[in-house]
Amino acid sequence: MLHVEQREAPMTPVAGPSVTLIPQPVPDLAPAISDSTATTVAEPADAPPAEQGRRSEEAVRPTRPTRPLPPQLPRVLAVANQKGGVGKTTTAVNLGAALAEMGYRILVIDLDPQGNATTGLGINPRNLESSIYDVLLRDTPLDDCIEPTSVRGLFVCPATIDLAGAEIELVPAFSRELKLRRALDTVLDDFDFFLVDCPPSLGLITVNGLAAASEVIVPIQCEYYALEGLGQLLRNVNLVQANLNPRLEVTTIILTMFDARTKLADQVASEVRAHFGTKVCRNVVPRSVRLSEAPSYGQPITVFDPTSRGAIAYRELAKEVSGGAPQRVR
Ligand SMILES: Nc1ncnc2c1ncn2[C@@H]1O[C@H](COP(=O)(O)OP(=O)(O)O)[C@@H](O)[C@H]1O
Ligand SMILES: [Mg+2]
Repeated sequence: MLHVEQREAPMTPVAGPSVTLIPQPVPDLAPAISDSTATTVAEPADAPPAEQGRRSEEAVRPTRPTRPLPPQLPRVLAVANQKGGVGKTTTAVNLGAALAEMGYRILVIDLDPQGNATTGLGINPRNLESSIYDVLLRDTPLDDCIEPTSVRGLFVCPATIDLAGAEIELVPAFSRELKLRRALDTVLDDFDFFLVDCPPSLGLITVNGLAAASEVIVPIQCEYYALEGLGQLLRNVNLVQANLNPRLEVTTIILTMFDARTKLADQVASEVRAHFGTKVCRNVVPRSVRLSEAPSYGQPITVFDPTSRGAIAYRELAKEVSGGAPQRVR
C-alpha cells in the first residue's frame, strides 16, 4: 500500500535581492531528476514568448543539450503540482487544445473536484450523466463519460463536485490507487495524448493520476515561493514510481505566468533551468489577462483569442512537448 505524506516539507525561502529561490533542501530534488545536463538560460525580458524561445535557442545552440526524443504515442501526461493556482488547469486545457490543433487526438481528464478544466472546455457539469467520479468509484466505463469540446480532436472526461468525496470514498476501495489506470487502459488506442489535470493536493486522487501516467508535467509559476513544496511532489512521484508505476518520470517543466517586466520572473526561470536542465521547456507561458479570461467563455485560448501571446505560447509548447511525433494511423 502506498503511503502518501500530506505533510508539507519545511521550506524557508528568504526575502532579499540575491536570494536563493529554490527552497531547501535542494538535494531532495535529485532522485527524481536524473538530468545532470543543467543549463541556465535567462530569457530576454522584453520579447514575446516565441521570440524568447528563438533567441535563447540561438544564444545557446553550440552547447545546449536538446530535449530527449519524445516517447511513442499514446502518451499519458499527469499535470501535477500540489500548489493551487500555478497553471495546471490552464496548461492541461490549452496545451490540449494546441496539440489538437496540430492534428492529435487529445483527452483531458479532469481530476479536480473544482472542475475547472471541465467548465474551461465549455462543459456544464450540471448537464452530465456521468463523470470521472463514476469511473473511479462506480466502475463506469471511461468511454461512457467522454465529452466532445468545441475543438476538433479535443475531448474531456469531466469532473463534478462529487469528486470532492472521492478522496475519502476511495480509501477502502480495492486497488484504490489504480482505478484511473485501469479505466484508461480501455481507451488508450483512441487518443494520442492524455492530459490528466490533477488537484492541488497529493492525496489518493493525485496518486491515481500519477499511477496512470508515464510522464509528469509540472507547471511552475514564476513567482516567489515558486518551488515551495516541490521536493514533496518529487518524493511522491518517486514513491509512486517505486510502488505502483516504474515508468513514471518527471519529463516536463513548464514555466507559467512569466512576467517579463519583473526581475523576479527571470530569476525564478534561471534557477529552475539550473536545477532541471533540459526538462524545462524553452518556451514560457507569459502572464496574460486573455489566458485568465478564456475559461469563463468555456474556450481554450487558441479559440478565444487565437493570435494572443498566450495562444502562441501554448502552440509553441505543444510543438516542444510533442516533438513533432507523427500521428498514429487509425
Ligand atoms: N499565464 C497566465 N496568465 C494569467 N493568468 C493565468 C495564467 N495561467 C493561469 N492563470 C489564471 O490563474 C488562475 C490559476 O490558474 P489554474 O490554471 O487554474 O491553476 P491550477 O490549476 O494550478 O490551480 C486562474 O484564474 C487562471 O485563469
Ligand atoms: Mg486546477
